[in-house]
Amino acid sequence: MAHFPPAPAHIAIVMDGNGRWAKRRYLPRLAGHRQGVESLRRCVKACAERGVSVLTVFAFSSENWSRPADEVSGLMDVLARAIGREVPQLARDGIRVHFVGDRTNLAAGMCEGLAHAEAETAHNTRMVLNVCFNYGGRWDIAQAAAQLAARGEAITPESLHTATALAHVRDPDLVIRTGGEMRLSNFLLWQSAYAELYFSDKLWPDFDEAELDVAIAAYHGRERRFGLISEQLDQESPVLARA
Ligand code: IPE
Ligand code: IPE
Ligand code: MG
Repeated sequence: MAHFPPAPAHIAIVMDGNGRWAKRRYLPRLAGHRQGVESLRRCVKACAERGVSVLTVFAFSSENWSRPADEVSGLMDVLARAIGREVPQLARDGIRVHFVGDRTNLAAGMCEGLAHAEAETAHNTRMVLNVCFNYGGRWDIAQAAAQLAARGEAITPESLHTATALAHVRDPDLVIRTGGEMRLSNFLLWQSAYAELYFSDKLWPDFDEAELDVAIAAYHGRERRFGLISEQLDQESPVLARA
């Protein structure tokens, strides 16, 4: 059994760079997305082996609908097939899958696929895999505020947090973005307030276990202060207790 240094409890990843990976090989962009699914499978396994409790990945953003129609429909196809194919193994591996995002205007078949994957893995406890699909951080904050307003509840940071789409998990400790861009592109805007950010130049299909370990090592080299000063970090603090 391999031994790994302790991993952050919640890792979140912007899986970027599939299109460029394909372009470099003179392949259609969809070939990059297919390879991206392979990379995700490897990453899920690696995170589970390293004791990560929650892995959240950005699969399709609210803004990605505006890509060329053939890429959008191809991506839907790749995702739907991947969900159907991977669920039995995820169920066997103890992974609980959640889809996070706006389902209101999704095709009925897609909604059924997402619900089926969630139901089939609902009993699992080894690791939570949140797949952000038709997701945007702005959508999440707005839908959370709308829920509170509809119930006539006061909007506070705490109440809003409980209405967000990721209220079932702790906030991410480490947010990784592959593909070389240093931006969030509407990912986990609320939840990343105190996450450590790590940017990798590797394109997502090339992001492997070794790269994951480099990101985790970088995380361990950081000092998370949550607004405090270094000297306070060894002491008991309500700020740290909430983190
Ligand atoms: C990320 O890869 C996957 C999705 C956005 C669905 P891209 O498709 O954005 O790849 P690049 O950034 O064009 O290389
Ligand atoms: C973010 O990547 C979305 C996903 C990885 C699903 P994009 O490729 O859409 O982001 P931009 O356009 O470079 O900001
Ligand atoms: Mg991109």
